[in-house]
Amino acid sequence: SDRVALGPLVGSIDQGTSSSRFLVFNAKTAELLSHHQVEIQQKFPKEGWVEQDPKEILKSVYECVERTCEKLQQLNIDITNIKAIGVSNQRETTVVWDKITGEPLYNAIVWLDLRTQSTVERLLKRIPGNNKSFFKFRTGLPLSTYFSAVKLRWLLDNVEEIRQAVDNGRAMFGTIDSWLIWCLTGGKNGGVHCTDVTNASRTMLFNIHSLDWDPELCQFFDIPMEILPKVRSSSEIYGLMKSGALTGVPISGCLGDQSAALVGQMCFQDGQAKNTYGTGCFLLCNTGQKSVFSEHGLLTTIAYKLGRDKPVCYALEGSVAIAGAVVRWLRDNLGIVKTSQEIEKLAAEAGTSYGCYFVPAFSGLYAPYWEPSARGIICGLTQFTNKKHIAFAALEAVCFQTREILDAMNKDCGIPLSQLQVDGGMTNNKVLMQLQSDILCIPVVKPSMPETTALGAAMAAGAAEGVGIWSLNPGDLTAVTCERFEPQINPEESEYRYARWKKAVMKSMGWET
Ligand code: G3P
Repeated sequence: SDRVALGPLVGSIDQGTSSSRFLVFNAKTAELLSHHQVEIQQKFPKEGWVEQDPKEILKSVYECVERTCEKLQQLNIDITNIKAIGVSNQRETTVVWDKITGEPLYNAIVWLDLRTQSTVERLLKRIPGNNKSFFKFRTGLPLSTYFSAVKLRWLLDNVEEIRQAVDNGRAMFGTIDSWLIWCLTGGKNGGVHCTDVTNASRTMLFNIHSLDWDPELCQFFDIPMEILPKVRSSSEIYGLMKSGALTGVPISGCLGDQSAALVGQMCFQDGQAKNTYGTGCFLLCNTGQKSVFSEHGLLTTIAYKLGRDKPVCYALEGSVAIAGAVVRWLRDNLGIVKTSQEIEKLAAEAGTSYGCYFVPAFSGLYAPYWEPSARGIICGLTQFTNKKHIAFAALEAVCFQTREILDAMNKDCGIPLSQLQVDGGMTNNKVLMQLQSDILCIPVVKPSMPETTALGAAMAAGAAEGVGIWSLNPGDLTAVTCERFEPQINPEESEYRYARWKKAVMKSMGWET
């Protein structure tokens, strides 16, 4: 039969907190040809704990790859045209496995997990002045439950099998990118143990200036350096797929999902920013080749390094732990919606929260507060309040949290953003997007192809040396077509609601000390 001739294609694994996906793009036009998605089970074994099964994650990735290839074949597209694969992933989530058996030695501890609160407190006592920003200039990060180093410390302190594996020289540590690349390139039979600079910059063991693991930080957290993966650029051939429909295809792009979205949104210029609404919500602003340090609770992180000999670019990041996760909570814990999509209709029917404010501080508060003692609250309730108002307040919370980080970003950068580029699953919710524009008082701009995370990883993979099928020259990049949302309420009303939100935030803090 005639197969559609399309030229080279690039596959992209997007392993997020809530689901795994595999997407295939045309390298010349950036057109999305097919994809498949599988939801990931979240385990909450104790209050505040969040785990996932590393083998389930791997299996879901294989399933997505196989199913997408089948869909392409049904479209008469030749899968041998797939010339490279990129990986983007939920960041910070920590896995330790045995390199001889290939088996994980514990569940993955998810970035949102709070079990390390006491580990953080213990470590803080060893820092002059209990200063959680002590390592800020070296790592870009405050000491927090969020980053991998403390999760790894917890694993070494609490899991006997891991301690033994370290003693026997059998343990390997990795974030999800490392775990996947190691498994996909052969696992215990010669898998490649590596990570990229963007993922490494989220561990708190990485020096963001020397671009290497920092021996002093490893000493501080008491992490054996031999279990760490080799740090590579975000765009180079790491290894080849060892099984499945795409056996032999190089894996040649790797970026933490938020960095990948910045690339996929074509934010290559200093001052360009994007906000991604996934499980959490992350606003990154490219600061070019200089690392900028925040005075207002933002992180300094590595944006990308698109090739071994290419310069590193940095970003300022505002991280919000709970965005899509609040909708999932309303679905799974309260049952007020059956599907996540229903939230839009419910919120639209309310049209307002009627003075109800919902601070979803389920994992403490991240930027700009970095307050692990915060817990979620719903306040301003009256006899009149119903589930529609709570649905509206949940969406509004995502917008207020974004407003807080945008304010911080504007203060740190000096030049306020005149519009906000957005992407991620939640941006399909038009009520949310309108509300976001109303609360920020600036236009919100959404690309018509919202899978920018996967696109960014595909671009990195296709542009790698030895692959060379995706040009990153500004002139060759396909222009992004967009949908715009303009503010529709007056700024006074917006300010009033924002002030009430801040009052609610104050009430959520200091709950769990
Ligand atoms: O830092 C965590 C982040 O990378 C997770 O992203 O899209 O799964 O919410 P997402």
